[in-house]
Amino acid sequence: MPELAGRIAIVTGAGSGIGRAIAHRFAGAGAAVVAADLNLAAAEETATKFSEQIVPHQVDVTDEPSVQRLVQATLERFGQIDILVNNAGIGTTKDIVETDLEEWERVFAVNVRGVFLCCKHALPSMLARRHGVIVNMGSVAGLIGLPQRAAYCASKGAVVTLTKQIAVAYVKQGIRCNCICPGTVDTPWVERLVAQVPDPEAARRALEARQPMGRLVLPEEVAAAALYLASDDAAAITGSILVIDGGWMAQ
Ligand code: NAI
Repeated sequence: MPELAGRIAIVTGAGSGIGRAIAHRFAGAGAAVVAADLNLAAAEETATKFSEQIVPHQVDVTDEPSVQRLVQATLERFGQIDILVNNAGIGTTKDIVETDLEEWERVFAVNVRGVFLCCKHALPSMLARRHGVIVNMGSVAGLIGLPQRAAYCASKGAVVTLTKQIAVAYVKQGIRCNCICPGTVDTPWVERLVAQVPDPEAARRALEARQPMGRLVLPEEVAAAALYLASDDAAAITGSILVIDGGWMAQ
């Protein structure tokens, strides 16, 4: 029996990169997946694979009514939510002095308020069934200070501690909540990042060299970890931080 047979999952940011890989991996493991993204066309593109199981949905995770509609639509269609993956996220490449307040607020709105709102509105139906798994997408940037990532580091640090708070708050009520902290993952995000500098190839090589394995992490490798944490194989795991970074944090 596939690991997620009969399970209903919401994956945010499922129109690209890591979120798309998670949606595909979960569907491959038997789940029905609501692929939620700000960019509906991108979510629809995700759903061209496993089209029987993946339902695209437009959401802005920073907007409470939009998140409520996502949860409502999922419950109306499937009757339950077993898994919530809070993956939608954005970044900036600035230190604190150069960061505008507006940019700071935007990063926190997507990366922190988005996780709060999705958990707040998905949890009641999970609690009613005393069953639910949340996987939050953190980052190594939530564990250490990285140059030029002021807002991003702070926001992902908040995701890491919110994960632990959710884990302890609801552990007796059948809810598990864990966080994945990837290093640099080969997604459109990284393509955009390296395209900003005069020598994108050199920038990419520098990102690869930062990780002791000498390569970027693959989105599918993060998706495999999300599948594990969402599955019953991880039934004893809550409040954990799983680092997937080619050895970067071990140094
Ligand atoms: P990506 O930029 O390829 O995909 C992010 C997706 O989130 C996009 O489809 C975008 O439309 C969606 N999104 C953005 N704002 C949204 C909103 N307000 N509501 C709903 N959806 C929204 O990014 P990638 O690389 O796949 O990253 C996914 C997650 O993984 C993020 O949380 C990121 O911080 C985290 N991460 C990424 C790493 C990397 O190296 N790519 C490393 C560590 C963490």
